[in-house]
Amino acid sequence: MSQRTAQSLHLNEPLRIVIVGHVDHGKSTLIGRLLFDTDSVPESKVAEVEAISARRGMVTEWSFLLDAFQAERDQAVTIDTTQIWFKSAKRNYVIIDAPGHREFLKNMVSGAATADAAVLVVDAAEGVKEQTRRHAYLLHLLGVRQVCVVVNKMDLVDYDQARFDQVAGEARNYLADIGVAVSYVLPVSARMGDNLAQPAANLAWFDGPTMLQSLDSFQSVSRPAGQPLRFPIQDIYKFDERRILAGRIESGVLRVGDSLLFSPSNLTAHVASIESWSTPSPAVEAHPGESVGITLDEQIFVERGEIASHEAEAPQLSNVFRATLFWLAKEPLTVGKRYKLKLATRDANVQVEAIEKVIDTDSLAGRAAEALERNGVGEVVLRSRTPLALDEYRSLPKTGRFVLVDGYDTVGGGAISMEGYPDQRPALRVKSTNITPVSHRVSATERSKVVGHAGGVLWFTGLSGAGKSTLAMALEQHLFQRGYQVYVLDGDNVRKGLNANLGFSPEDRAENIRRVGEVAALFADAGIICIASFISPYRADRDRAREAAGEHFHEIYVKADLAICEQRDPKGLYRRARTGEIPEFTGVSSPYEAPEDAQLTVDTGEQSIEDCIKALGDYVESRFNLRRNGG
Ligand code: ADX
Repeated sequence: MSQRTAQSLHLNEPLRIVIVGHVDHGKSTLIGRLLFDTDSVPESKVAEVEAISARRGMVTEWSFLLDAFQAERDQAVTIDTTQIWFKSAKRNYVIIDAPGHREFLKNMVSGAATADAAVLVVDAAEGVKEQTRRHAYLLHLLGVRQVCVVVNKMDLVDYDQARFDQVAGEARNYLADIGVAVSYVLPVSARMGDNLAQPAANLAWFDGPTMLQSLDSFQSVSRPAGQPLRFPIQDIYKFDERRILAGRIESGVLRVGDSLLFSPSNLTAHVASIESWSTPSPAVEAHPGESVGITLDEQIFVERGEIASHEAEAPQLSNVFRATLFWLAKEPLTVGKRYKLKLATRDANVQVEAIEKVIDTDSLAGRAAEALERNGVGEVVLRSRTPLALDEYRSLPKTGRFVLVDGYDTVGGGAISMEGYPDQRPALRVKSTNITPVSHRVSATERSKVVGHAGGVLWFTGLSGAGKSTLAMALEQHLFQRGYQVYVLDGDNVRKGLNANLGFSPEDRAENIRRVGEVAALFADAGIICIASFISPYRADRDRAREAAGEHFHEIYVKADLAICEQRDPKGLYRRARTGEIPEFTGVSSPYEAPEDAQLTVDTGEQSIEDCIKALGDYVESRFNLRRNGG
């Protein structure tokens, strides 16, 4: 295919629309009538439907046309039965799924069907109903930004302008509340063919466009320009010596010579060539929507599921993220359940860590809940074992959405948000090269023999106000008096010096903990017991601190409920956080991930300080004291 034909095909691409709305508000009739008005079905079919309707003594029931059309399609197994085509004088359209189709919601949520625009059908007599709101919410969730609301069945309300204004107002208000900008609100009667493809005498008071004219004004949005490059790797082919990485460009432009960063592996290489299947001459660049294979200038180990990007605009790396989820399965989603996540070409196992809230699509209120029920929308936190390459849905819808699969079933679809969670890439990246570590001549055993105990890290984690510092300092004194080499690293202290350049953004906290984790490991290596007392809200950061100190790391959860900490509020920070004066405050406007399997938990809400110190002292005695333990 030459470049010219490829381009003209591109221009002829149909506008992909979806037709949604409450059951019985007339979606099928609207499609049937639209097919008739645009000469998209054979006359024989129309005659058949007219005959059936006449036999039943009714005006032509246009929804039969859709049924007849679909029944025919269903027999042709090779045709995608969910797609319905029609055209205006301006261009082609495809209705990407039939309302009422069993898989309709699933297809929308899973992105099997991505719409450029939507028609939301509302019954003029009934007004905005529950399902109208649910579907509108789904449009918002899926980021469909071109929406035409049709107030249907105007014939049933005598083409009354006041009634139209009322329903139009209801629809506009709801859509505005959820942040969908409505492009058009039109009165129509699908049954009578009023204002779909032709203006109607009955609606002379309306001076807006017909539905078809409004659709004609919409743009195809499937190939956005100016976005960062995302090239998810679908397959890797080996030809002779060459390895070809194949996939589809989801956004941005890929050029020969570009330096690519692969995520999550964090490896880089340059594009040596683009092997396109659709052009005979070698391409120098590839655009969104194109399927290409590329070769690299270096043999790096990249697998299916990695996402290639440019280094400056890379996806975030994280093993935990937030999502707005639309739930489809009969079995509700609950905390602790595991599902398979499909994100671009990547499959990963994830666990539901929290249901932050369930959103009532009627009132738009959020409420705490134990479970997310079928057809519900909720905000959840998901966690995987290994880091994933993640994009914010808001900025990159193609790679910022995912589906959850249970067995072979798609059970939910969601939009990613990284709010409150750090990009873990900086912590994973190693910049120092040409390094040759040297060995000490004093061994850990020799050191511990002298002081009588092993070195190690006691990592205190917990909310601000849980009592970490108080316990850390008391324990330090307690141990020191018993002959231990012990030293406290405390958040507020370390942030005055070593980490004075770090704030409280998720990334800064991650770096805070990374540095302290490394320093604590050095203390342990020096034979000292290091008590590190930091909120350290992210499990991934604490896991890295554990890696740094290895077997000498002991995680201690200093537990106290948020309500208790807030009541204590020793530094008056919670009060200021609640008024918004301190942003990103842990527990209030920034997450805290409690440990799952801490070596020791002390609950300062339940136990006295003395009891806690006793428990901690005993713990240290039994694990570190070599003299007593016969070391
Ligand atoms: S961490 O999250 O990066 O581990 P760290 O333990 O070092 O935090 O520091 C926490 C201390 O910083 C708190 O005890 C509190 O005094 C102070 N602080 C200031 N701003 C914040 C904030 N936004 N969130 C939590 N603590 C804060």
